[in-house]
Amino acid sequence: MAIGQRLEGKIAVVTGAADGIGKATVECFVREGARVIANDLPSSKIDEALGTLENVVTVKKDVTEQDAPAVIAEAAASAFGGLDILFNNAGTAAGAPVDELTDELWDHVLAVDLTSVVRMTRGCLPLLKKSDAGRIISTGSVMSSFSAPGMAAYTASKHGVLGLTRTFALEFGKFGITANCIQPGAIMTGITRDVFAADPSFSDYWKNKAALGRLGQPEDIAKAALFLASDDAAFVSGIGMLVDGGAMQGT
Ligand SMILES: NC(=O)c1ccc[n+]([C@@H]2O[C@H](COP(=O)([O-])OP(=O)(O)OC[C@H]3O[C@@H](n4cnc5c(N)ncnc54)[C@H](O)[C@@H]3O)[C@@H](O)[C@H]2O)c1
Repeated sequence: MAIGQRLEGKIAVVTGAADGIGKATVECFVREGARVIANDLPSSKIDEALGTLENVVTVKKDVTEQDAPAVIAEAAASAFGGLDILFNNAGTAAGAPVDELTDELWDHVLAVDLTSVVRMTRGCLPLLKKSDAGRIISTGSVMSSFSAPGMAAYTASKHGVLGLTRTFALEFGKFGITANCIQPGAIMTGITRDVFAADPSFSDYWKNKAALGRLGQPEDIAKAALFLASDDAAFVSGIGMLVDGGAMQGT
């Protein structure tokens, strides 16, 4: 199949799509022939980011809200008639050292980064089962396998996303659905832009840590998501895929 048609006829949901990895993935999926429900928080940000793109319907909804899975799945069913690819990508990287970590911060990070993944997956499952090649892709992190000071809630969430991915793969394989977790390294997005600008030594640390000597760009992750969403990854399920420029391979 020619490049540019790898998702021809496919219908996708991408959460956290107004910026960074989600936005780049929507653009990439649409270029490859998909029709996409692009979700983000209720604000004009998602329309400004993607509103003019053909074959994209935006859904402004906080993924932590009780009815978010039903609203987003219903949008896919009514706009496009089904769902083949769920990309659980919305996330926050808020953090604090453990002795300063409030219950509120813990609950918020777990709700956005972990609980929404299982709830969105459960809510979209009936549609994914009807697809002949259902795909669940979730954005973990290098912190699905490692950690950093100040990142307890994020680390717990992202470890959880990789664990859930393994369970999804085992439970949904019988429906022909694959489930995989992308583990980005340091990517230049909305989450990191300000932190890197405020502290260049932080971005230098990640640049130097990467074997490839650079930060990742959102498109680097979008292309990994495209692979996992495509027929090329038909026999890939249950994995955590590090996309970090080799950052985590050294001591
Ligand atoms: N940027 C990195 O270095 C990096 C590294 C590892 C993992 N990640 C993960 O990548 C994913 C995407 O983040 P990004 O780096 O593109 O950041 P980003 O800030 O550019 O994009 C995240 C988007 O998610 C949206 N969002 C946040 N909470 C939401 C909610 N409750 N409901 C709906 N949308 C919500 C935000 O509005 C934003 O548009 C996240 O899960 C993040 O943890 C990022």
